[in-house]
Amino acid sequence: MTEAPSERRRSHLVYDEWIESIGIPVHRGHYISDLREVELGWWEERGCNAAFLQLKGMEGVSEARIVEIPPGVTLPPLKMPIGETIYVLSGSGLASVWAGEGPKTSFEWAPHAMFHVPRYAYAQLSNARGDQPARLLHYNYMPMAMTVVPDPDFFFKNPYEDPSLLYGQGEDLYSQAKAVLGRGAVDPAAEREGATRDDSMPVAAHGGATWVGNFFPDMAAWDKLSPYRHRGAGGTSVNVRFPGTNMSASMSVFDASMYKKAHLHGPGRVIVIPRGEGYSLLTEPGKEAVVCPWGEAAVFTPPGGWYHQHFNLGTEPARYLKFGHLPQFAGAGDYRHQIEYPDEAPKVREYFEAELAKRGRESLMPDVVYKDRDYEWDYGDGD
Ligand SMILES: [Fe+2]
Repeated sequence: MTEAPSERRRSHLVYDEWIESIGIPVHRGHYISDLREVELGWWEERGCNAAFLQLKGMEGVSEARIVEIPPGVTLPPLKMPIGETIYVLSGSGLASVWAGEGPKTSFEWAPHAMFHVPRYAYAQLSNARGDQPARLLHYNYMPMAMTVVPDPDFFFKNPYEDPSLLYGQGEDLYSQAKAVLGRGAVDPAAEREGATRDDSMPVAAHGGATWVGNFFPDMAAWDKLSPYRHRGAGGTSVNVRFPGTNMSASMSVFDASMYKKAHLHGPGRVIVIPRGEGYSLLTEPGKEAVVCPWGEAAVFTPPGGWYHQHFNLGTEPARYLKFGHLPQFAGAGDYRHQIEYPDEAPKVREYFEAELAKRGRESLMPDVVYKDRDYEWDYGDGD
C-alpha cells in the first residue's frame, strides 16, 4: 500500500538546511490564524524581521516567508533568478523595481495589495510610515529551485541580467492589470470591458477571463470576478497570471452562510484570507478532517491529495487568495477529484450548521444541492 504524501518521509532538502541556517523562526503545522501576529526574528543580512512558513501542504514545493519592514526603513534591494509574488498583510509603503542599469519603476502598496517581482529584477521595499511596521507575505518556488541547483549563492549573488524580461513588458509595468481570454474562454462581462483574446494562454479554471498584470492594488476589494460554476456555493473567482512567467494566483469569493465543494489536487499552494470569517477542512482520504479556522490574514495549505473545502461563517462574502498553480501540481484524473454535495459525508453539513447555530444563524445552502448533483446556481446572467 502506498503511503499518503504527508506520511512519506521526505529526504532533507537543501532549502530546509538553508532556512534553518538563518536562525529566524520557522512556523509549521497546517495553518496560522493571523500572519500579522506571528512571531518573527531579526534577519541581519536583509535588515528586517522575518519568519519562514513550512506548512504541511507546501511539501518542498513553495516558499512562504513573512517580512516585516521597520517603521520608515528602506530594505536593501533583492534580486533573484526566480520570480516572487508579494502580498501585503499590513502597513503601507513603496516598491521600486528595476533590472540591470535600467530605470526604476516605483509604486505604492497598502494592505491587501499583491504584486509580482520578475526573475532577475531588483526589488527594493520601503515602509512609508514612521510609526508602524509593514508586513508582507512573499511566495516563490525556491525549495524546488534549490533542489536542482543546491547553491544558495546562485540565488542571491547571481550576476545574470535580462532587462528585456522587465522592460519588454511595455511602459505600464505596474499599472492596471488587463483581462485576457485564453483558449476557449467565455466571459461576456470581461469582453464588455475590452478583454483581448490570446489563444496561446490556457483557459482559467472557471472558464472565464484571466487577469494579466504585475500589480493588484487591493485583493480585498477586487470585483472583476467570473462565475465559478463547477465549485458550488454560487462562488466567483479571479484568475491572475503574472507576465513572462508560469507563476499565477487566483482568488475565490463566496457568500455568507455558504460553503464550497470539497476537492483535491497537488501540493504547494498557499492560501491567505484577504477578507472574511470561516474555516476550511483539510481531509486526508480515510482520516478525520483538520479544521483550519480563518479570518483576515490567516494562512493554510492543503497537502497534495487531501480534500479541502471552504466554509463561510461570516455575515459578508468571504474571499481566499491562492498562490501556486504550477501545471506539474495541478493534478489529473482522480488526483483532481471533487466531491459533489449529495456525495459528501453528512457530518460536513452538520458541523457547518452547528457552527452557524453558535452564531445565531442558519445555513443558506439551498436544500436542492444535497439532492441534485447537477444543480447550478443562478448567476443572473441568463445562462
Ligand atoms: Fe484547491
